[in-house]
Amino acid sequence: MEKKYILAIDEGTTSARAIIFDHSGRKIVTARHPIRQILPNPGWVEHDANEIWNAVQSTIATAFIESGVKPEQIEAIGIDNQRETSVIWDKKTGLPIYNAIVWQSRQTAELANELIQKGLKEDIHKKTGLIISPYFSATKIRWILDHVPGSQERAENGDLLFGTINTWLLWKLTGGESFMTDYANASRTMIFNINTLDWDDDLLKELNIPRKMLPEVTSNAGDFGTTKNYHFYGSKVKITGMTGSQQASLFGQMAFNKGEVKNTYGTGAFAVMNTGEEPALSDNNLLTTIAYGLDGKINYALEGSIFVAGAALQWLRDGMRMVKETPDSEAAANKSTDHDEVYVVPAFSGLGAPYWDDEARGTVFGLTRGTTQDDFIKATLQSIAYQTKDVIETMSSDSDIPIDVLKVDGGASANDYLMQFQADILDIPLERSKELETTSLGTAFLAGLGSGYWKDIDDIKTNYQTGNAFTPKMDKEVRDNLYSGWKEAVSATMAFKH
Ligand code: G3P
Repeated sequence: MEKKYILAIDEGTTSARAIIFDHSGRKIVTARHPIRQILPNPGWVEHDANEIWNAVQSTIATAFIESGVKPEQIEAIGIDNQRETSVIWDKKTGLPIYNAIVWQSRQTAELANELIQKGLKEDIHKKTGLIISPYFSATKIRWILDHVPGSQERAENGDLLFGTINTWLLWKLTGGESFMTDYANASRTMIFNINTLDWDDDLLKELNIPRKMLPEVTSNAGDFGTTKNYHFYGSKVKITGMTGSQQASLFGQMAFNKGEVKNTYGTGAFAVMNTGEEPALSDNNLLTTIAYGLDGKINYALEGSIFVAGAALQWLRDGMRMVKETPDSEAAANKSTDHDEVYVVPAFSGLGAPYWDDEARGTVFGLTRGTTQDDFIKATLQSIAYQTKDVIETMSSDSDIPIDVLKVDGGASANDYLMQFQADILDIPLERSKELETTSLGTAFLAGLGSGYWKDIDDIKTNYQTGNAFTPKMDKEVRDNLYSGWKEAVSATMAFKH
């Protein structure tokens, strides 16, 4: 019998990826296709949903060509995605009625403010676990229905469908047969009640969103439908796993126990702690979200979402032209000889957790005549670690769980300077997974559990390998002093509104 594999589709903010894994959790191939960022106005970010679909198809084809694995050798497919990004399409034609509004976009800030003004903050927090923010899908749906003429009526008539990108891709792969999402993605919409595990009728009424346009919500592993052969190179393959990118990496990091925490350094950085089977609400602006639903049980999580992490390194490369490639930032930081007096606050699209300031914009502090490009690059790297400390400290105090190790992954976690500074400034050891793409690994694990490729969680645990560890080495006095400088820089950034 021919060997079988799992295909993970990892549709992120800046690229779509197709990754094939074998039964030992070994990555056979990664294919990638960039996603164009559409920036119609300052602070707005949109994607073309059809382009995302084409990019996904193209990466799947490339993965088959490069690996020699045949479509019929795929036992099951898993999908994970940039969360919150919202698309509305016509059920009959399959055509989106507007671009997908991306999670980073601030075009619905006014709508979010209106909800705050109406005094809905506490109610929304209790029901959805979320802070009112344009980050989540709810106001994006409202915005599209407000801006595309006739769409409210079409939605009420049942002619339009809403989905986050997982739902959109599932609908496309199954030729319109499956219209579903999973608990983890639903918990990022701000219209899903994480206690009753259903769309919340009061919130739907408040936002005038017809229930008809919303997908069915199910567990993260199970039967999500089957590809049409004309959309999967002649094969009919089951889709058996689905989740949001950050919950996927929590799963890929094997953080199945209460109190285990991971941080993924991607476009943004997302620290997520498994808080067990009861939702823990934060007093300090962290998000309560669903980690995963499996075998009838829900595991909740606390999350600190940092909007700009790897994106700051891309800015150094593309905007500031200070590095040729983002990994070059490591050598530059090692060359810097200043005493860490420069602070960069990369609040390019506001500040996420724990500050939630949509209007903040990036700042730089502490420049002198002697500041060099290397110092500037180092300060930008450090900003990622400082932001992570902000959320990890809040997480530990909100959950009342001391964090004794932080599991790390994602592209920028390959940067050893950043990881050592992170361990130093947190005063917590870091454990970097051997497979930096734990997001796609977690997605593959979910799909493999859903199809029976792997028996249970113990079975997948045998396939996990840790990589390097980073131990804190910084003196307490130095650490405290550096961090208090960062806090001052953030306060000044939030005070600057021009
Ligand atoms: O919440 C946004 C997050 O899911 C972004 O995902 O995959 O682009 O890093 P990604």
